[in-house]
Amino acid sequence: MNDLQRRAAALDSADPLAKHRELFALDDTETVYLDGNSLGALPRHVPERVADVITRQWGELRIRSWDESGWWTAPERIGDRIAPLVGAAAGQVVVGDSTSVNIFKAVVGAARLAPESRDEILVDASTFPTDGYIADSAARMTGRRVVPVAPADLPAALGARTAAVLVNHVDYRTGRRHDLAGLTAAAHQAGALAVWDLCHSAGALPVGLDEHGVDFAVGCTYKYLNGGPGSPAFLYVAERHQAAFDSPLPGWNSHTDPFGMTPGYAPADGAARGRVGTPDILSMLALEAALDVWEGVGVEDVREKSLALTDFFLECVETYVPEGRVASVTPTAHEERGSQVSLRCEDGTDASAVMRELIARGVVGDFRRPDVLRFGFTPLYVGFADAERAARVLGEVLAGA
Ligand SMILES: Cc1ncc(COP(=O)(O)O)c(C=O)c1O
Repeated sequence: MNDLQRRAAALDSADPLAKHRELFALDDTETVYLDGNSLGALPRHVPERVADVITRQWGELRIRSWDESGWWTAPERIGDRIAPLVGAAAGQVVVGDSTSVNIFKAVVGAARLAPESRDEILVDASTFPTDGYIADSAARMTGRRVVPVAPADLPAALGARTAAVLVNHVDYRTGRRHDLAGLTAAAHQAGALAVWDLCHSAGALPVGLDEHGVDFAVGCTYKYLNGGPGSPAFLYVAERHQAAFDSPLPGWNSHTDPFGMTPGYAPADGAARGRVGTPDILSMLALEAALDVWEGVGVEDVREKSLALTDFFLECVETYVPEGRVASVTPTAHEERGSQVSLRCEDGTDASAVMRELIARGVVGDFRRPDVLRFGFTPLYVGFADAERAARVLGEVLAGA
């Protein structure tokens, strides 16, 4: 054992979250799973719960389950379970549809709350692409135009023409955390609304939606919330906006009396106004079961371990990786870091080939074109020995590349 391995062992044995790893289907000690920022691991108890949903709730109770198994109210119920993880009081989060669809609801909803004279929607220039595509369509629909702005330049770009800003809390490529509190305050100062994409922060770090006065937020549940592939996303509409929120997708599920089957639309109050059509029950209830792993865990504890893990990984990379082969594009300052480390391959090394080799050797991260290796750290199931091993194998792969 070298010094880093000894330290990793000591850190793991002192880690209060270490026991949570057993809750996940990660018994393969040959693999270090650092891709939970793309698809969270499976909590072990979920298959049994989903089997019950299929065989008993669907197979035996059939239509009765909409009521007796709580299917109809699942979007709000599960929203209320996600709410504390993103710093929201109950009644403001609803689950359903993809992140992309919820971005559409949020951006159009925000634009419709702004005076027409505000004709610009500012969008994080480094955004995950779907946000930009959808904001552009939302802008055209609402008579606005999208202005791409680097998050650091947002305060200067905000003004009397700004209807809303759409920003990613944590950048998917670099792992940079943007200043949600400061940028929301700056948007409000300019009379604009703030819409946040929490895909890479929900379940990874404290968000503080209510505390910071965020107007709208969306996030996915298949990354740090471990809901499973394609599990439904969530939409947060701050309580103060709910009565005026004019959803661009007013489906029958968000009607105040869905079974009245009336031709005229009358929106429901509260979070339910963000619903559209029949919820994706199998996926949604898999997510509900997956959220049980948060019992007794605070997102602050997760954040503390996440920063310690990424600090330690960066230190191991510096020790094991030959100089000049990779450079971190993830900020070293804690307040600017999410829960991943992104390393750019220097000197023309083919990053996709490096990631293929890492995966072949049991270290699973992912690759983002053209040259970025991403390593996501999910504190509920990743430990310090995993971080050490990942960096060591990376060093070995690069030494041979
Ligand atoms: C930041 C961000 N926004 C949006 C999306 C797209 O989400 P969906 O495919 O659920 O619409 C992703 C997916 O990875 C993402 O990382």
